Amino acid sequence: MKIGILGSGDVGKTLAAGFLKHGHSVTIGTRTPEKLAEWGRNYPTGQIANPDASAKFAEVVVLAVKGTAARDALLAAGVSNLAGKIVIDATNPIEDAPPVNGVLKFFSDLNDSLMERLQREFSQARFVKAFNSVGAACMVNPQFKAGAPTMFICGDDDAAKKTVSGILTQFGWETADMGKAEAARAIEPLCMLWCIPGFLRNDWSHAFKLLA
Ligand SMILES: NC(=O)c1ccc[n+]([C@@H]2O[C@H](COP(=O)([O-])OP(=O)(O)OC[C@H]3O[C@@H](n4cnc5c(N)ncnc54)[C@H](OP(=O)(O)O)[C@@H]3O)[C@@H](O)[C@H]2O)c1
Repeated sequence: MKIGILGSGDVGKTLAAGFLKHGHSVTIGTRTPEKLAEWGRNYPTGQIANPDASAKFAEVVVLAVKGTAARDALLAAGVSNLAGKIVIDATNPIEDAPPVNGVLKFFSDLNDSLMERLQREFSQARFVKAFNSVGAACMVNPQFKAGAPTMFICGDDDAAKKTVSGILTQFGWETADMGKAEAARAIEPLCMLWCIPGFLRNDWSHAFKLLA
């Protein structure tokens, strides 16, 4: 598939490399392509462009920008370029404030979520929450003694979630579909939980697994 990544941070670069590893075509969209010079040397088959060109190129868009910038990044990508496309939403609604005793502050509350806000505003795009509840270093084919970890996903479009589940299988994950967009109210705060051992004990090597 043709993958357009919005964002040039750890998540954007890691997922871009993962998609290339699994045989997809990738264009990273960033406001400052020069930031990605080293990534481009390491991954010469990957393309680097502005957000608009990345979204235009994409069959599947990956949103990997700061939560506070998610709306602006999608506007820069272009509403018409997103229409009908899957948007894998890896963002978290983290406030520009330090954690308190290891607990991040969010700008959303438990009766709303960032992904729902984005889905309402960019209503022609097909959002699927994924990759937000694990650190970038564990996103692509993570190796854990307990086997494949679980990625919790949600979104309103079942076909979009099926495509994302296929990607997650390639990336070494089990998928747990938690239903419609409202489930992002529960999935986004998993990021807070995931980060606590990191902030308290510098332990960033773990992932969630759903046992049944
Ligand atoms: N880091 C992790 O391990 C991790 C794990 C799971 C989920 N997440 C979530 O994934 C997202 C990306 O995280 P990250 O750590 O890779 O990077 P980040 O530092 O949270 O965000 C960097 C990206 O945000 C974009 N950005 C910042 N301000 C912007 C603005 N005003 N308009 C448009 N874009 C703007 C930048 O785009 P340009 O390239 O255009 O400068 C940059 O690529 C976040 O929402 C984070 O919560 C992170």
